[in-house]
Amino acid sequence: MQKSTTGKSTIGEIVAADFRTATVFENHGIDFCCGGRVALETTCAEKGLELATILSELEAVDNEPADRSQNYSSWALPFLIDYIVNTHHAYLKENDEQIAAYTRKIADVHGGHHPEVIQISAIFDKIAADMTIHLIEEEDVFFPAVKRVKAARIAGLTANANDLETIRASLLTLHREHDAIGDAIHTIRNLSQDYTIPGDVCNTFVVTYKKLKEFEDDLHKHVHLENNILFQKAAEM
Ligand SMILES: [Fe+2]
Ligand SMILES: [Fe+2]
Repeated sequence: MQKSTTGKSTIGEIVAADFRTATVFENHGIDFCCGGRVALETTCAEKGLELATILSELEAVDNEPADRSQNYSSWALPFLIDYIVNTHHAYLKENDEQIAAYTRKIADVHGGHHPEVIQISAIFDKIAADMTIHLIEEEDVFFPAVKRVKAARIAGLTANANDLETIRASLLTLHREHDAIGDAIHTIRNLSQDYTIPGDVCNTFVVTYKKLKEFEDDLHKHVHLENNILFQKAAEM
């Protein structure tokens, strides 16, 4: 944790400065990606947590080995963008359809006894559809504009005004979409009672809940890298 961290620091700033702190927030069920713009003291008050306790837990991560490969804030923007595309976007493209198929299947088979899975399936279908559009906007419009502006700045040239306008407009949409997708996956988590497997279900049910949990974990890190690091730097452009 950074020495300058206080209760006034936002959760997003704390995790952006040191990704090891993400574990502390995960352990307390604190959202560090979509809800990252909230001050630590506000979140503690809302969750009934002692600020001093959380600060000392955050300080304790300094004793854990630092992994330079997790130093995302120090990465050059084009590299961070390529990393997001090659890891998180690739994960979504590989898994979205399969998870949607699994949730539909358990809704068909277990919806009678567990009506929540019917809702989960409908919500996941919407997440998958919205995510496809979101990734296209990032990969075809927003990321290339950020890369061009960055390259112009490095070359000492004036950035293209259209690119700057694209970045400004995309940031508004992308932030809104992150909030909506984040809310939707948290609704799924609540409906599934934190992905608790009921006693009377089949193996597909077990695999589906595991995949949904994995999806949420991947999304948290993905949205964190965008909201708290990439989008902040793009906004400064
Ligand atoms: Fe993304
Ligand atoms: Fe995104």
